[in-house]
Amino acid sequence: MAGLGKRQNTGETSFIDNVTGQKIVKLGGLEFPPRKVWMKTFGCQMNYHDSERILSHLKDLNFSQTEEKERADLILFNTCAIRDLANTKFYSQLGEIKHNKKKNEKLVVGVGGCVAQTEGKALVKKYKHLDFAFGTDVIDSINDLVFRSYAGDGKFSVNAWDRSTDFSIETKITHGSPQAFVNIIKGCNKYCSYCIVPYTRGKERSRKCKEVVEDVRKLVKYQGIQEVTLLGQNVNSYGKENNESLAMLITELDKIDGLELIRYTTSHPYDVSDELIEVHGKAKKLSNHLHLPVQSGSKTVLERMLREYTPEHFLNLCEKLRKANPNIILSTDIIVGFPNETQEEYEATLKLLDEAQFDFIYSYVYSARKGTKSAKMSDTLADDERGERLRYLQSYQLKIQEKLRAPLKGKTLRVLVDGQSNQKGIKKWKGRTNGNRIVHFEPIESDKNYLWHWVDLEVTSATALSCQGKLVKDHGKRIEMHDSENSLG
Ligand code: 5AD
Ligand code: SF4
Repeated sequence: MAGLGKRQNTGETSFIDNVTGQKIVKLGGLEFPPRKVWMKTFGCQMNYHDSERILSHLKDLNFSQTEEKERADLILFNTCAIRDLANTKFYSQLGEIKHNKKKNEKLVVGVGGCVAQTEGKALVKKYKHLDFAFGTDVIDSINDLVFRSYAGDGKFSVNAWDRSTDFSIETKITHGSPQAFVNIIKGCNKYCSYCIVPYTRGKERSRKCKEVVEDVRKLVKYQGIQEVTLLGQNVNSYGKENNESLAMLITELDKIDGLELIRYTTSHPYDVSDELIEVHGKAKKLSNHLHLPVQSGSKTVLERMLREYTPEHFLNLCEKLRKANPNIILSTDIIVGFPNETQEEYEATLKLLDEAQFDFIYSYVYSARKGTKSAKMSDTLADDERGERLRYLQSYQLKIQEKLRAPLKGKTLRVLVDGQSNQKGIKKWKGRTNGNRIVHFEPIESDKNYLWHWVDLEVTSATALSCQGKLVKDHGKRIEMHDSENSLG
């Protein structure tokens, strides 16, 4: 039997209505006229990718996306439970939806993702205007759930795990960009003491290397994809159950003609193997950027976090990676204010920032998540102290970044333009370098659409947070990135 994670034989058929000329989709005796879905996503890239997958499935049920909540027939939230902030925002937005439901009785409201996985039942019970909740492992069954709702199934919640023997999916893309996110592993077996992910995303399961390579080959060949980001909660664990590895997978993907850039996220330092480090020196298409969350620079805090490595081990990894690829750009995640973090332990993290020289960091105050081990620890730290530590750490890192980035001025960097930006009323375009740095530039021709063009930019100013460039060359929409000297930034 197909697992819940898969949706094969979908059973939809369609016809054109003689009177309205509209396409009508038929499924299980129900007719689905063209409808609009409004979707709000919270959290990480995995969630954004899941949302894209959901929207792609919903197309088969005649739904198209709308940005206007008021015009929606179906409202979906894809939720994040990792920290309190995303949680709070979601609850307040879910509360507001009751006004939309009052105005439009036929409106269907669903909540998916990490919060729904653990709290779905309670949510459906508590919020009268919520029709259904669905967990992280039933995403590919979204049309069945929407069908149930339209079939009058009342309020329900589904949070089953996919129990099929392998994790097998095909990447679905709805947008027309040359960038694709490709799931390679789901779940996490690590159980870091502060983290809710193993409870919301389940056990680790990897896709087979052969399947992923074939998937990417198709994306490149038929959908013009030039850049892939391999996704998972802990991609460094990829393939363990199949005697495969991330290093093997990248080596295979590196051979695909037409693919220009490979990224992966997110990593756990414990599983960064020597083989993978070697690949960072060898694979021509692998990005020069690696996000490697360290969380803390204190040995004792790392122990309480159950991270399974020491600061020395982490710094040693950074050194080995830099040796393998001297152009590698490292970034990290930091949690300040873990329960009972002492001033000394906190200062060890500042010291690690000095030593590791990260190009940027994401930093957070610790927030206790219900059900995790650290949430049960007694905790003497006050919220003010946590906030103060975070602010100081961020300003400390900005000084490091400023020094690190200043030498970029005058260099020419190649970026893939991914959008427009408006800076102090000036219309600009922006893109990311191979090393994942954002560079903004003013167009030479103001009306020209640079979206998804590869351009070379000469950096005119580089501060800790922003990089401005002058357009030197527009290569158009296709380029062989890895052959270029300009891919180093
Ligand atoms: N409190 C604060 N930050 C957290 N993160 C994960 N769990 C928590 C928590 N309970 C951060 C970690 C992780 C990132 C995705 O979110 O830094 O790497
Ligand atoms: Fe959470 Fe990452 Fe630790 Fe897994 S490895 S428990 S996702 S922090």
